[in-house]
Amino acid sequence: MVDSAIAAMAQFAASGHVANSHGAFAASAECDALVARAREVVGRLYGASADGVWFGANMTTATFAFTRAIAASLEPGDRVVGTRLDHDGNVWTWRRAADDVGVDHVLASFDVATGRLAAESVIDLIDERTRWVAIGAASNLLGTIPDVRRVADAAHAVGAHVFVDAVAFAPHRRVDVAALGADAIVSSAYKWYGPHVGAMWVRPDLLEGLPAYKVRPAENEGPSRFETGTPNYEGLAALVAAAEFVLEMGIDALRAIEEATFAPLLAGLQTIDRVRIYGPLDLVDRTPTVSFVVDGQHPDLTAAALAERDIAVWSGNSYAVEIGDSLGVNEHGGVVRAGVVAYVDDHDIERLLDAVAAIART
Ligand SMILES: Cc1ncc(COP(=O)(O)O)c(C=O)c1O
Repeated sequence: MVDSAIAAMAQFAASGHVANSHGAFAASAECDALVARAREVVGRLYGASADGVWFGANMTTATFAFTRAIAASLEPGDRVVGTRLDHDGNVWTWRRAADDVGVDHVLASFDVATGRLAAESVIDLIDERTRWVAIGAASNLLGTIPDVRRVADAAHAVGAHVFVDAVAFAPHRRVDVAALGADAIVSSAYKWYGPHVGAMWVRPDLLEGLPAYKVRPAENEGPSRFETGTPNYEGLAALVAAAEFVLEMGIDALRAIEEATFAPLLAGLQTIDRVRIYGPLDLVDRTPTVSFVVDGQHPDLTAAALAERDIAVWSGNSYAVEIGDSLGVNEHGGVVRAGVVAYVDDHDIERLLDAVAAIART
């Protein structure tokens, strides 16, 4: 977390205003004001209206709440379209909802050679029966950024709605719901220097029509209908500070820092014998995330060898189950994934490249 978010969380906890919403006393009013501030700042971050913003424990939990409510609006014969490039949080959440009501859930394939998802492969699956299209704005495993807007236009042309998973996109690119054509969008604040809170926006007119799974005393209108139970106020305090950090720094400035660091990583990995990169080898339409394997070595072993050198990478499929299946790597332990954000520096990249080269020589 960025320092200002850590401080905001601590300050809230020590403020004497740790209460609950909708009380007659001052501490409660502070809690109400904090939630309103959080909706407002996420609205600004997403280029969206504050009255469509609601919070959940994380993307996955919020999305399950959302798709469970959507399920009630689906009918046999309807179709939900997703993609194989997506994190399972945007695949299985929809599959479970589709299965609950017996509707089709179909997934568009991406090009395994490049890791790119052509808009056409999603558009080809969109038909008159399609109610929702669920698409990731960036792949958390391969970093590729599909043309969400083209897909959204095709979906809207048949009256379908578009749900965008922006978890791997929001830390690196400006989220703009109008430009993306999103009817609903979600990201996780912990990916953009904030706390572990999921932030969803749903077009307010759509939101009002959805039957939220909520208890009776909870509000019947507005985005809080989807926020079951007491909000994570200290998390929201940190989220406000993190969102303000991103807005004040400017996502383009953050992106420039990341790309300057990431370019040598991508180039350097390509020069190491026995390293095989998955996904694109260029910097076009991608986030600073790269997946690779050292030929003949289980990704868990590579990650463990890097961890011994105090380098943090992930091994496995990072919950991008469909990508792992499509690439045929799931049965071999997946891949090693390294990512850059603004606090990763050139020295970190040198250490990673030196370590991978040393591991690949053994
Ligand atoms: C693209 C993408 N979608 C969804 C998720 C799930 O997010 P959460 O951990 O907030 O449930 C992640 C997590 O890494 C992700 O990268």
